Amino acid sequence: MRTPLDLCFCLLTLCGVTSVLYGVRVVVEEDSDAVLPCSPSTKEDITAKLFDWKKDGQEVFMYDSGIHYNNGHGSQDLQFKGRVSHFQDQLMNGNASIKIQNVKMADSGNYICIFPRLQPRQTFNIELVVGASKPFITTPNQTKDQLLLQCEVEGASQEPKVEWQDSSGNILPAEEPQVSERGGRYYVTINTTVTKTDRYRCVVTQKEISHQTSAETFVFISGASPEPYITTLNETKDWSLLQCKVRGASQEPKVEWQDSSGNILPAEEPQVSERGGRYYVTINTTVTKTGRYRCVVTQKEINHQSRAETFVFISGASPEPYITTPDATKDWSLLQCEVKGASPEPKVEWQDSSGNILPAEEPQVSERGGRYYVTIKTNVTKTGRYRCVVTQEGISHQTSAETFVFINVNSSSVSEKVCEDCSSAVAFVLGAAVLAVVVAAVPFGLRATNCITVSFNQGAAPDPTTTSNDPTKDIPLLQVRVTGDHQDQNGSSNAP
Ligand SMILES: *[C@@H]1O[C@H](CO)[C@@H](O)[C@H](O)[C@H]1NC(C)=O
Ligand SMILES: *[C@@H]1O[C@H](CO)[C@@H](O)[C@H](O)[C@H]1NC(C)=O
Ligand SMILES: *[C@@H]1O[C@H](CO)[C@@H](O)[C@H](O)[C@H]1NC(C)=O
Ligand SMILES: *[C@@H]1O[C@H](CO)[C@@H](O)[C@H](O)[C@H]1NC(C)=O
Ligand SMILES: *[C@@H]1O[C@H](CO)[C@@H](O)[C@H](O)[C@H]1NC(C)=O
Ligand SMILES: *[C@@H]1O[C@H](CO)[C@@H](O)[C@H](O)[C@H]1NC(C)=O
Ligand SMILES: *[C@@H]1O[C@H](CO)[C@@H](O)[C@H](O)[C@H]1NC(C)=O
Repeated sequence: MRTPLDLCFCLLTLCGVTSVLYGVRVVVEEDSDAVLPCSPSTKEDITAKLFDWKKDGQEVFMYDSGIHYNNGHGSQDLQFKGRVSHFQDQLMNGNASIKIQNVKMADSGNYICIFPRLQPRQTFNIELVVGASKPFITTPNQTKDQLLLQCEVEGASQEPKVEWQDSSGNILPAEEPQVSERGGRYYVTINTTVTKTDRYRCVVTQKEISHQTSAETFVFISGASPEPYITTLNETKDWSLLQCKVRGASQEPKVEWQDSSGNILPAEEPQVSERGGRYYVTINTTVTKTGRYRCVVTQKEINHQSRAETFVFISGASPEPYITTPDATKDWSLLQCEVKGASPEPKVEWQDSSGNILPAEEPQVSERGGRYYVTIKTNVTKTGRYRCVVTQEGISHQTSAETFVFINVNSSSVSEKVCEDCSSAVAFVLGAAVLAVVVAAVPFGLRATNCITVSFNQGAAPDPTTTSNDPTKDIPLLQVRVTGDHQDQNGSSNAP
């Protein structure tokens, strides 16, 4: 597993040495080492000579023919004790520079470098300016797709300008810096929120003293896309226009619409935009079938996938009706056809194999949420194929289901009593088959090849299970299996 955030800090310093009138100005950041340059104009070997460094009357460093404050020479100011050194191997080149370690604000000021015994005596002025020290970067808050970066500057002598920059040097939008001043020193804090993997730099600039220092951090943001949002932009009875929106993934994601079986749906070209290194993707699809649909967002580089799901009810298309046999005897079979949730209200009829409409009980119709639920029963007394036909004229939609009924007339007359005793109906439904025919246009007509598998069962057929094989065709190919105990003794054979 990858941690969402990896941080490493890098530090960068810029020190400036500028010539000023009557001398030299050295700018260093606090806590670093400062080299104060000095050399007699003659550049002569000064190994056996004397030079003395002073600051506003304080003794900083003295060298006298090999003797200096770090090897026995006394009376060095305490402020500089143990912090100042010269460059022994450079003396022969006339280099009398010193290095002050771990410079503090108090070390700021004007230094003089004197060669009292040279003829003529030589004196050089060096100004040491201590600039803001490197800022501190902290990360007070983070989520998987954004990070709060805080930059703190502690006690700068001149009020600094503090900015956040990305790796290209662009200044990042940031909150208003918090500036406070205590004892003539400035404390600055500035926050920015970043949402993108990059190297970020907090840059501290003190223009007056030509000082700039910065701290750098590398931010890794997993950029895992948040869950997409699904909205229904428009819908009619026949279709729904679905929109999937991905907001702000840092790696460009692949966005797809899928049906409940995972088949990728045809969709419009996704709209991709990028703002601040984050990707915003919108993709539309139009669906025409009731079902569960999902929008899947994949970011391969970071092995991330997220999805959202929606259920679409295409009101115009009635689902296939449902045939059951609530009651049957040796002489007759009561067939029931149920339509679950159609809109507009469908006409539901029972037909025999020749298409004749059968007398039926008055259909039971109920309505919930604009959808109609219809149940219609018929009592059949003849062996044959029967069909329940659902028609929604207004939207040119027709669907149907079919069943086969076997009525053994002869056995009833021969051994009525025996059959009643053994309680096994002689008339029974051999099998039920459901097939749906979706006709997209008027006039209605069969445009599908149907595959019906019928197995024989004693007694009422249990509920058929329906599976759809190829949902991408406009006419579904349905396979129906009737499950139940297979019993051979009474009229079992193969499909009629
Ligand atoms: C003196 O030597 C030091 C150390 O090598 C060097 O950094 C500095 O620039 C030299 N200064 C002069 C004035 O030559
Ligand atoms: C971190 O940021 C999130 C989102 O901006 C915010 O809801 C949460 O309160 C913050 N947590 C802290 C400790 O500041
Ligand atoms: C920066 O963010 C931290 C943590 O949320 C907060 O405490 C601080 O006040 C913020 N500073 C500024 C300057 O906005
Ligand atoms: C929805 O689609 C219908 C048919 O295409 C169109 O007439 C209607 O203007 C659309 N409505 C919206 C809000 O886009
Ligand atoms: C999605 O459909 C809406 C409404 O028709 C349209 O405004 C938008 O541009 C479409 N977006 C895409 C990505 O096709
Ligand atoms: C079905 O019809 C038969 C004969 O017409 C009748 O005896 C039987 O009661 C009917 N069954 C139902 C449930 O209506
Ligand atoms: C009953 O069976 C007999 C012979 O077993 C046959 O002649 C007769 O036609 C059958 N009746 C019906 C209604 O099928």
